[in-house]
Amino acid sequence: MNSRRYIGVKRIHWDATDSTNFRAAELALDPANAGVVITADLQSQGHGQHGRVWQSSPETNVLLSALLFPPPELRRPVILTAFAAMAVAETIFQVIGLTAAIKWPNDLLIDRKKVCGILIEGGKRTGGASEAGSYFVVGIGLNVNQSVADFEQMELPDASSLSVAVGKKLDVQLITNCLIDNLDEQYSELLDGQFTKLESDWAKRIGKLGRAVTVELADRNEVQGQLQALTFDNLILELPSGEQRQIRPEMVRHIR
Ligand code: BTN
Repeated sequence: MNSRRYIGVKRIHWDATDSTNFRAAELALDPANAGVVITADLQSQGHGQHGRVWQSSPETNVLLSALLFPPPELRRPVILTAFAAMAVAETIFQVIGLTAAIKWPNDLLIDRKKVCGILIEGGKRTGGASEAGSYFVVGIGLNVNQSVADFEQMELPDASSLSVAVGKKLDVQLITNCLIDNLDEQYSELLDGQFTKLESDWAKRIGKLGRAVTVELADRNEVQGQLQALTFDNLILELPSGEQRQIRPEMVRHIR
Protein backbone atom coordinates (compact mmCIF):
# COMPACT_ATOMS: atom_id res chain seq x y z
CA MET A 1 0.00 0.00 0.00
CA ASN A 2 1.12 3.58 -0.69
CA SER A 3 1.84 5.67 2.36
CA ARG A 4 -0.99 8.17 2.33
CA ARG A 5 -0.32 11.85 2.93
CA TYR A 6 -3.74 13.47 3.33
CA ILE A 7 -6.72 11.30 2.54
CA GLY A 8 -7.38 8.05 4.38
CA VAL A 9 -4.57 8.28 6.91
CA LYS A 10 -7.48 7.87 9.33
CA ARG A 11 -10.45 5.72 8.34
CA ILE A 12 -13.72 4.88 10.10
CA HIS A 13 -15.93 2.03 8.92
CA TRP A 14 -19.62 1.60 9.73
CA ASP A 15 -21.49 -1.68 9.13
CA ALA A 16 -24.58 0.48 8.61
CA THR A 17 -25.27 4.20 8.87
CA ASP A 18 -27.68 6.77 7.44
CA SER A 19 -25.17 8.42 5.10
CA THR A 20 -21.39 8.43 5.08
CA ASN A 21 -21.62 12.10 4.02
CA PHE A 22 -23.51 12.89 7.26
CA ARG A 23 -20.93 10.98 9.33
CA ALA A 24 -18.07 12.87 7.67
CA ALA A 25 -19.75 16.30 8.05
CA GLU A 26 -20.26 15.84 11.77
CA LEU A 27 -16.48 15.41 12.17
CA ALA A 28 -15.86 18.80 10.54
CA LEU A 29 -15.76 20.69 13.85
CA ASP A 30 -12.30 19.32 14.54
CA PRO A 31 -9.50 20.26 12.11
CA ALA A 32 -7.64 17.13 13.24
CA ASN A 33 -10.17 15.18 11.18
CA ALA A 34 -8.89 16.59 7.88
CA GLY A 35 -8.66 13.78 5.35
CA VAL A 36 -10.65 11.26 7.37
CA VAL A 37 -12.42 8.66 5.23
CA ILE A 38 -15.76 7.20 6.29
CA THR A 39 -16.95 4.00 4.65
CA ALA A 40 -20.04 1.85 5.19
CA ASP A 41 -21.44 -1.49 4.07
CA LEU A 42 -24.96 -0.05 3.99
CA GLN A 43 -26.68 3.35 4.07
CA SER A 44 -30.31 4.06 4.95
CA GLN A 45 -30.26 7.67 3.70
CA GLY A 46 -27.74 7.55 0.88
CA HIS A 47 -28.35 10.56 -1.32
CA GLY A 48 -27.08 12.11 -4.50
CA GLN A 49 -27.29 15.24 -6.60
CA HIS A 50 -30.54 17.20 -6.63
CA GLY A 51 -31.82 15.32 -3.56
CA ARG A 52 -32.00 11.98 -5.36
CA VAL A 53 -31.85 8.74 -3.38
CA TRP A 54 -28.66 6.64 -3.71
CA GLN A 55 -29.73 3.03 -3.35
CA SER A 56 -27.37 0.28 -2.25
CA SER A 57 -27.62 -3.26 -0.97
CA PRO A 58 -25.22 -4.45 1.75
CA GLU A 59 -21.56 -4.88 0.75
CA THR A 60 -22.18 -4.61 -2.97
CA ASN A 61 -20.68 -1.20 -3.55
CA VAL A 62 -18.13 1.27 -2.31
CA LEU A 63 -19.84 3.88 -0.11
CA LEU A 64 -17.21 6.40 0.86
CA SER A 65 -16.92 9.98 2.08
CA ALA A 66 -13.73 11.97 2.59
CA LEU A 67 -13.68 15.10 4.77
CA LEU A 68 -11.47 17.85 3.38
CA PHE A 69 -10.48 21.36 4.48
CA PRO A 70 -9.10 22.53 1.15
CA PRO A 71 -7.09 25.73 0.70
CA PRO A 72 -9.09 28.59 -0.89
CA GLU A 73 -8.01 27.85 -4.49
CA LEU A 74 -9.43 24.31 -4.23
CA ARG A 75 -12.76 25.28 -2.68
CA ARG A 76 -14.67 24.78 -5.90
CA PRO A 77 -17.04 21.88 -6.55
CA VAL A 78 -15.82 21.60 -10.16
CA ILE A 79 -12.23 20.95 -9.03
CA LEU A 80 -13.21 18.63 -6.19
CA THR A 81 -15.56 16.68 -8.45
CA ALA A 82 -12.90 16.42 -11.17
CA PHE A 83 -10.23 15.13 -8.80
CA ALA A 84 -12.61 12.56 -7.31
CA ALA A 85 -13.84 11.48 -10.76
CA MET A 86 -10.29 11.00 -12.03
CA ALA A 87 -9.38 9.00 -8.90
CA VAL A 88 -12.39 6.74 -9.52
CA ALA A 89 -11.51 6.41 -13.22
CA GLU A 90 -7.93 5.45 -12.33
CA THR A 91 -9.22 2.90 -9.79
CA ILE A 92 -11.55 1.34 -12.37
CA PHE A 93 -8.67 1.09 -14.82
CA GLN A 94 -6.34 -0.47 -12.25
CA VAL A 95 -8.94 -2.99 -11.08
CA ILE A 96 -10.69 -4.08 -14.29
CA GLY A 97 -8.62 -2.50 -17.06
CA LEU A 98 -11.52 -0.50 -18.54
CA THR A 99 -11.57 3.20 -19.35
CA ALA A 100 -14.61 4.87 -17.80
CA ALA A 101 -16.03 8.09 -19.26
CA ILE A 102 -16.97 11.07 -17.13
CA LYS A 103 -20.49 12.36 -17.69
CA TRP A 104 -20.72 15.98 -16.60
CA PRO A 105 -20.67 16.79 -13.81
CA ASN A 106 -20.39 13.86 -11.48
CA ASP A 107 -21.05 10.46 -13.04
CA LEU A 108 -18.73 7.75 -14.34
CA LEU A 109 -19.98 5.54 -17.12
CA ILE A 110 -18.92 2.23 -18.58
CA ASP A 111 -20.63 1.25 -21.83
CA ARG A 112 -22.83 4.37 -21.38
CA LYS A 113 -24.20 3.10 -18.07
CA LYS A 114 -23.62 4.78 -14.72
CA VAL A 115 -21.30 2.90 -12.38
CA CYS A 116 -20.41 5.74 -10.02
CA GLY A 117 -21.87 8.98 -8.67
CA ILE A 118 -20.05 11.72 -6.78
CA LEU A 119 -21.63 14.20 -4.38
CA ILE A 120 -19.69 17.17 -3.03
CA GLU A 121 -21.28 18.81 -0.01
CA GLY A 122 -19.78 21.79 1.78
CA GLY A 123 -20.25 23.87 4.85
CA LYS A 124 -18.57 26.23 7.30
CA ARG A 125 -16.75 24.99 10.34
CA THR A 126 -17.41 27.35 13.26
CA GLY A 127 -17.13 27.35 17.01
CA GLY A 128 -14.58 27.19 19.77
CA ALA A 129 -11.55 29.39 19.70
CA SER A 130 -10.63 27.99 16.32
CA GLU A 131 -10.95 30.06 13.20
CA ALA A 132 -13.97 29.41 11.04
CA GLY A 133 -13.10 27.48 7.89
CA SER A 134 -14.71 25.78 4.95
CA TYR A 135 -15.06 22.05 4.79
CA PHE A 136 -16.10 19.80 1.95
CA VAL A 137 -17.28 16.21 1.99
CA VAL A 138 -16.48 14.23 -1.14
CA GLY A 139 -19.03 11.42 -1.28
CA ILE A 140 -18.55 8.55 -3.70
CA GLY A 141 -20.85 5.65 -4.51
CA LEU A 142 -19.19 3.09 -6.79
CA ASN A 143 -21.25 0.09 -7.92
CA VAL A 144 -19.16 -3.07 -7.63
CA ASN A 145 -21.06 -6.34 -7.33
CA GLN A 146 -24.68 -5.60 -8.29
CA SER A 147 -26.16 -7.75 -11.03
CA VAL A 148 -28.29 -6.69 -13.99
CA ALA A 149 -31.28 -8.17 -12.10
CA ASP A 150 -30.48 -5.96 -9.06
CA PHE A 151 -30.65 -2.83 -11.22
CA GLU A 152 -33.88 -4.03 -12.85
CA GLN A 153 -35.39 -4.57 -9.42
CA MET A 154 -34.33 -1.05 -8.34
CA GLU A 155 -35.75 0.32 -11.61
CA LEU A 156 -32.38 1.73 -12.61
CA PRO A 157 -32.07 0.68 -16.26
CA ASP A 158 -29.20 3.13 -16.90
CA ALA A 159 -27.03 1.86 -14.03
CA SER A 160 -24.37 -0.83 -14.06
CA SER A 161 -21.56 -2.20 -11.91
CA LEU A 162 -17.92 -3.13 -12.36
CA SER A 163 -18.92 -6.77 -11.92
CA VAL A 164 -21.43 -6.57 -14.78
CA ALA A 165 -18.76 -4.93 -16.95
CA VAL A 166 -16.26 -7.78 -16.46
CA GLY A 167 -18.57 -10.72 -15.76
CA LYS A 168 -17.21 -11.73 -12.35
CA LYS A 169 -17.52 -10.78 -8.69
CA LEU A 170 -14.94 -8.37 -7.33
CA ASP A 171 -13.42 -7.57 -3.94
CA VAL A 172 -15.12 -4.44 -2.53
CA GLN A 173 -12.46 -3.93 0.18
CA LEU A 174 -9.61 -4.10 -2.29
CA ILE A 175 -11.35 -1.59 -4.56
CA THR A 176 -12.06 0.71 -1.60
CA ASN A 177 -8.38 0.72 -0.61
CA CYS A 178 -7.28 1.32 -4.18
CA LEU A 179 -9.73 4.24 -4.46
CA ILE A 180 -8.49 5.82 -1.22
CA ASP A 181 -4.88 5.56 -2.50
CA ASN A 182 -5.86 7.25 -5.77
CA LEU A 183 -7.83 9.99 -4.01
CA ASP A 184 -4.82 10.68 -1.81
CA GLU A 185 -2.45 10.76 -4.76
CA GLN A 186 -4.62 13.10 -6.85
CA TYR A 187 -5.29 15.40 -3.90
CA SER A 188 -1.60 15.55 -3.01
CA GLU A 189 -0.91 16.70 -6.57
CA LEU A 190 -3.57 19.40 -6.30
CA LEU A 191 -2.13 20.62 -3.00
CA ASP A 192 1.28 20.75 -4.66
CA GLY A 193 -0.25 23.12 -7.26
CA GLN A 194 -0.32 20.57 -10.10
CA PHE A 195 -3.62 21.47 -11.75
CA THR A 196 -2.76 21.24 -15.43
CA LYS A 197 -2.55 17.48 -15.85
CA LEU A 198 -5.72 16.86 -13.87
CA GLU A 199 -7.55 19.55 -15.82
CA SER A 200 -6.55 18.20 -19.25
CA ASP A 201 -7.07 14.51 -18.30
CA TRP A 202 -10.52 15.41 -16.95
CA ALA A 203 -11.46 17.44 -20.05
CA LYS A 204 -10.41 14.55 -22.32
CA ARG A 205 -12.29 12.02 -20.21
CA ILE A 206 -15.51 14.03 -20.62
CA GLY A 207 -14.97 13.38 -24.32
CA LYS A 208 -16.87 16.33 -25.80
CA LEU A 209 -14.01 18.57 -26.95
CA GLY A 210 -14.42 19.69 -30.56
CA ARG A 211 -17.94 18.32 -30.74
CA ALA A 212 -21.34 19.92 -31.21
CA VAL A 213 -22.94 20.03 -27.76
CA THR A 214 -25.97 21.33 -25.95
CA VAL A 215 -25.11 22.94 -22.63
CA GLU A 216 -27.94 23.07 -20.11
CA LEU A 217 -27.42 25.97 -17.72
CA ALA A 218 -28.31 26.14 -14.04
CA ASP A 219 -31.39 28.24 -14.93
CA ARG A 220 -32.43 25.44 -17.40
CA ASN A 221 -31.76 27.59 -20.46
CA GLU A 222 -29.79 25.78 -23.17
CA VAL A 223 -26.91 26.94 -25.34
CA GLN A 224 -25.78 25.04 -28.43
CA GLY A 225 -22.39 25.23 -30.06
CA GLN A 226 -19.07 23.53 -30.65
CA LEU A 227 -17.09 22.91 -27.47
CA GLN A 228 -13.69 24.48 -28.11
CA ALA A 229 -12.17 24.32 -24.65
CA LEU A 230 -12.98 22.99 -21.22
CA THR A 231 -11.05 24.15 -18.17
CA PHE A 232 -11.82 24.59 -14.48
CA ASP A 233 -12.46 28.29 -15.24
CA ASN A 234 -14.45 28.19 -18.47
CA LEU A 235 -16.25 26.24 -21.14
CA ILE A 236 -15.64 27.94 -24.45
CA LEU A 237 -18.41 27.38 -27.01
CA GLU A 238 -18.45 28.53 -30.61
CA LEU A 239 -22.06 29.43 -31.30
CA PRO A 240 -23.69 28.80 -34.71
CA SER A 241 -23.29 32.58 -35.36
CA GLY A 242 -19.50 32.17 -35.09
CA GLU A 243 -19.46 34.14 -31.85
CA GLN A 244 -17.58 32.66 -28.88
CA ARG A 245 -19.28 32.27 -25.54
CA GLN A 246 -17.50 31.56 -22.27
CA ILE A 247 -19.46 29.87 -19.50
CA ARG A 248 -18.31 29.29 -15.92
CA PRO A 249 -18.46 25.57 -14.99
CA GLU A 250 -20.54 26.45 -11.92
CA MET A 251 -23.30 27.64 -14.29
CA VAL A 252 -23.48 24.33 -16.19
CA ARG A 253 -25.96 21.64 -15.23
CA HIS A 254 -25.44 19.20 -18.10
CA ILE A 255 -23.44 18.87 -21.30
CA ARG A 256 -25.08 16.66 -23.93
C1 BTN B 1 -25.13 11.10 -7.56
O1 BTN B 1 -24.99 10.26 -8.46
O2 BTN B 1 -26.02 11.96 -7.61
C2 BTN B 1 -24.16 11.11 -6.42
C3 BTN B 1 -24.31 9.90 -5.56
C4 BTN B 1 -23.36 9.89 -4.36
C5 BTN B 1 -23.60 8.72 -3.46
C6 BTN B 1 -22.56 8.62 -2.39
S1 BTN B 1 -22.63 7.08 -1.54
C7 BTN B 1 -21.53 7.67 -0.35
C8 BTN B 1 -21.95 9.09 -0.02
N1 BTN B 1 -23.02 9.10 0.93
C9 BTN B 1 -24.14 9.61 0.44
O3 BTN B 1 -25.22 9.75 1.06
N2 BTN B 1 -23.96 9.96 -0.85
C10 BTN B 1 -22.61 9.67 -1.28
